[in-house]
Amino acid sequence: MIPENSTSDFASYAKKTTLFPSLVEQRQGRGPIPRVGEAPLEKIRADFPILSEQVEGRQLVWLDNAATTHRPKQVIDRLVHYYTHENSNVHRGAHTLAERSTDAFEAAREKIARFLGAPGANNIVFVRGTTEGINLIAYAYVKPLLRPGDEIILTLLEHHANIVPWQLVAQETGAVLRVAPVDESGQIILSEYAKLFNSNTRFVSMTQVSNALGTVAPVQEMVAIAHGFGVRACVDGAQSVSHMPVNVSAMDADFFVFSGHKIFGPNGIGVLYGKEDVLDAAHPWQGGGSMISDVTFERTLYQKAPQKCEAGTPNVADAVGLGAAIDYVSAIGMENIARYEHELLEYGIRELGVIPGLTLVGTAAQKASVLSFVLNGHENEEVGRYLNRAGIAVRAGHHCAQPILRRFGYEGTVRPSLAFYNTPGEIELLARTLHEFVNSSL
Ligand code: ALA
Repeated sequence: MIPENSTSDFASYAKKTTLFPSLVEQRQGRGPIPRVGEAPLEKIRADFPILSEQVEGRQLVWLDNAATTHRPKQVIDRLVHYYTHENSNVHRGAHTLAERSTDAFEAAREKIARFLGAPGANNIVFVRGTTEGINLIAYAYVKPLLRPGDEIILTLLEHHANIVPWQLVAQETGAVLRVAPVDESGQIILSEYAKLFNSNTRFVSMTQVSNALGTVAPVQEMVAIAHGFGVRACVDGAQSVSHMPVNVSAMDADFFVFSGHKIFGPNGIGVLYGKEDVLDAAHPWQGGGSMISDVTFERTLYQKAPQKCEAGTPNVADAVGLGAAIDYVSAIGMENIARYEHELLEYGIRELGVIPGLTLVGTAAQKASVLSFVLNGHENEEVGRYLNRAGIAVRAGHHCAQPILRRFGYEGTVRPSLAFYNTPGEIELLARTLHEFVNSSL
């Protein structure tokens, strides 16, 4: 739905664009309601209660989806149902609620395996989020392989969660980080990436989509190059799974990680996918209940993965809630979501690109969701505050990805980021508010 306070001349937009013809017609009082796939956008937006929120006396326009997404009522209701009817610890009790919670928890694991194209539910480990998933891989799988002088390859696109854990294990083992560069558009230079491999390379970890620039990296090719050198690879899907279809088997990733809160699910839950052999080879990550098959004071025998990697009482409710989020996006269709968001992104690039003094940061041909920019003569935080007064939420700052912004000479940007519930009207409002800001400060 187009926000009430979006008053710009829609007819001029209609002339400028061939995008969203149905939305243009609807705005002019004719034509059908726009859809994401089969789902009417109006109905989708009605599923997200917070999108009706007023901030600063204005209708909320949520363009901070790279930081976190909102939850549809289907996810919120599933959490309420869990706590109302199913709450129990899992795998342990000989009673009905333990059975219900275990069934719900394991059903979520199976849904996630199907969603990712994983061979099976045993490839899916529940973690707290992307950050914990990468730390688990770094400490439980990679660190035991490392000797002084060994090398780990990252890319310049990584956010801090895919840099700092590797720095820590490198410092502890004497290993070295190598970093694949990007070109002027913010895309990985594949030939330079390939040159980083040598007989000391032990592991590669790469983002699929940059949270700061939106670049979609060619991860399938990058994983294939790593495998060509006999090196295992992790793909960080924190910024990709909510925007495009992902198939871990097709990309042949050895590990894949993502966070629930960035795909319309609860906070504090995330997923680590691992191939069976790498999960088997991983050392226990944390010790405690649930991950053991037998304990004496002399020794412990461990369960197989995924339980080996899930010590203690898991975050059952939020795993179940994440399963509901996966059901929600699957019902709309990830391909439909990708197509719709791509049109919206292209529209945003065009609208923001004509604002005087505005430079888009990250211009790769393959981009998803992110419209990072700087405005000549203005602090990013100042722009963010002005937008907030119009009800528009964006992130302004370094986005936990300082190296890639510094590559382009910036310490931060203003970062609108899209999801499938955003509308062209919201993009218009963003562009108009930025025009106002620029004009008011002349
Ligand atoms: N990584 C998150 C972001 O991009 C926090 O905002």
